[in-house]
Amino acid sequence: MEERHEIPERGRGWGELKEEMAAMRGDDLDWRSGRHGAYVWYANDDLEHVLQEAFGMYLVENGLGVRVFHSIGGMEREVLAMVRSLLSAPDGAASIFTSGGTESIFQAIYAAREWARATKPQITEPEFVAPHSAHPALNKAAYLLGLNVQRVPVGDGYGADVETIRAAITPNTIGIYASAPSYSLGIVDNIPALGGIAAETDLWLHVDACVGGVLGYFVRRSGREVPIYDFAAEGVASISADLHKSGFAAKPASTVHFRTHELRQYAAFAFDDWPHGMYGSLTFTGTRPGGAIAAAWAALNYLGKDGYQGLADTSMRTRDRMIEGLTAIPGVEVFGNPPLYGFAYGVEGMDMRKVSALMTARDWHCPNTVQPPGIHFMATPVHEGAVNAYLADVRECIEEVRAGSGVAAAEARYN
Ligand SMILES: Cc1ncc(COP(=O)(O)O)c(C=O)c1O
Repeated sequence: MEERHEIPERGRGWGELKEEMAAMRGDDLDWRSGRHGAYVWYANDDLEHVLQEAFGMYLVENGLGVRVFHSIGGMEREVLAMVRSLLSAPDGAASIFTSGGTESIFQAIYAAREWARATKPQITEPEFVAPHSAHPALNKAAYLLGLNVQRVPVGDGYGADVETIRAAITPNTIGIYASAPSYSLGIVDNIPALGGIAAETDLWLHVDACVGGVLGYFVRRSGREVPIYDFAAEGVASISADLHKSGFAAKPASTVHFRTHELRQYAAFAFDDWPHGMYGSLTFTGTRPGGAIAAAWAALNYLGKDGYQGLADTSMRTRDRMIEGLTAIPGVEVFGNPPLYGFAYGVEGMDMRKVSALMTARDWHCPNTVQPPGIHFMATPVHEGAVNAYLADVRECIEEVRAGSGVAAAEARYN
């Protein structure tokens, strides 16, 4: 269909538009049958219905106006307290509801910069040190905030190498960034050791638990070994934890938490030199979707701890079946020791982009990692029914690439 570049002269009926939208969607990624390696977190149809209704109830309300939309303010406080309670937050910790991981990370890095300006005024070129595995949201925030980022090589297990991080700290360093887990390979950095360095050297440690923050708690609760990544580790100043990922809430929804209320205050912005007087905010965005806060509140209350436990268990079962099946394919190796539902795998010496391209031709969305060359997979409940088909297809695609057959087609697709 040809793209239109003007608003139609006359409006069209919703029935007609709905049909058109459904048709446009026909070419999209088929995530309902779990044919994706990223992008979508989906619990079940019941929750989808709850999220739609809750979001719809607050479609018009503006989350910027919690002084007048008391119910949004109340739900927001409860959501933040509930997520904080999963992160071993001490009394006095304080949080912000944001539009996503990127905004949560931005607010944390902004707070760190303001904290350093207040407490280390001698630093004129502030810098963060991070393992190479850190999400680009760190660099986006640093770029916009005028900070430098020093990315250093990861260690043997693909997580932050504590001694390399320590050695990279300079008189300009204001903070350390770590992941729990990293997006690409799903590795949880050694937060207690990095927190120890942060405490010892008076640096801000931000833990990016955008993926792990909510469900990681339940994975640990089921008795699996998940390294400590929250405020239980000394030296952690802030943690980002997304609700629109493993919280199974509606987009856009994330949270960022600070060890103390005082640290959160560094994330505030206030301005009064305009006709309206004082404007204050704890978020990057101004207007905020009331629906996203309402839907997050509904998700946490609808699922309850039981519901999240079930989602965590299904995700981990699915991940186990995937890893077991993948490593049974000759030559396949899962990178490092990913303790949660995200991981990546590869075959030594094989260009995994070719495998992905062949998988794409079979209607799978199969995102690649570059260092090391591999394929990323985030196991969620919707993947449970797709495991066998994925494993059968990936085995064949790997064999095709190994045999050199089908490679021309694969190259044509990714070039
Ligand atoms: C570890 C991690 N941090 C940050 C982000 C950025 O989150 P968002 O895309 O919600 O802004 C992601 C997104 O996948 C992520 O996996």
